[in-house]
Amino acid sequence: MTENSAPTETTILVLNGPNLNLLGTREPAVYGSRTLADVEDLCRAAAAAEGLGVEFLQSNHEGALIDAIHAARGTARGIVFNPGAYTHTSIALADAVAGVELPVIEVHISNVHKREAFRHHSYISPVAAAVIVGAGTDGYRLAIQHLASIVRD
Ligand code: DQA
Repeated sequence: MTENSAPTETTILVLNGPNLNLLGTREPAVYGSRTLADVEDLCRAAAAAEGLGVEFLQSNHEGALIDAIHAARGTARGIVFNPGAYTHTSIALADAVAGVELPVIEVHISNVHKREAFRHHSYISPVAAAVIVGAGTDGYRLAIQHLASIVRD
């Protein structure tokens, strides 16, 4: 992803999991027409409005996501996390979130509860500070605003 500004005390990590690099062309009826670059732009704008800096990372690899969560402990005040399909499979990602004790806002662009049954369970939700589902890419803005209020408290 793009180069990020130096972490500050008020940097947050926006982390996207597998297949989210395909946003814009991937099942647009489900995920909309905004690309991941558009999402990054909206995250930067939303964070700047809250006085927060952003690190932005997308990976298709579970281990890379785990490493990013671990690294965030030293560089970020919280994480906005769309784990993609790993939401429904990954105890390792849930353990990473629990292990770093940073506030994590779980985001899903689509309303996973309206979709296949295998998308109804999340390993991440029990360790997330909040969950935003089905608000489209606007969910990232909502997550950043909520994370900002947590970080301010
Ligand atoms: C998703 C929902 C997941 O079920 C799916 O595997 C994704 C995207 C969402 O943002 O709606 O990759 O996390």
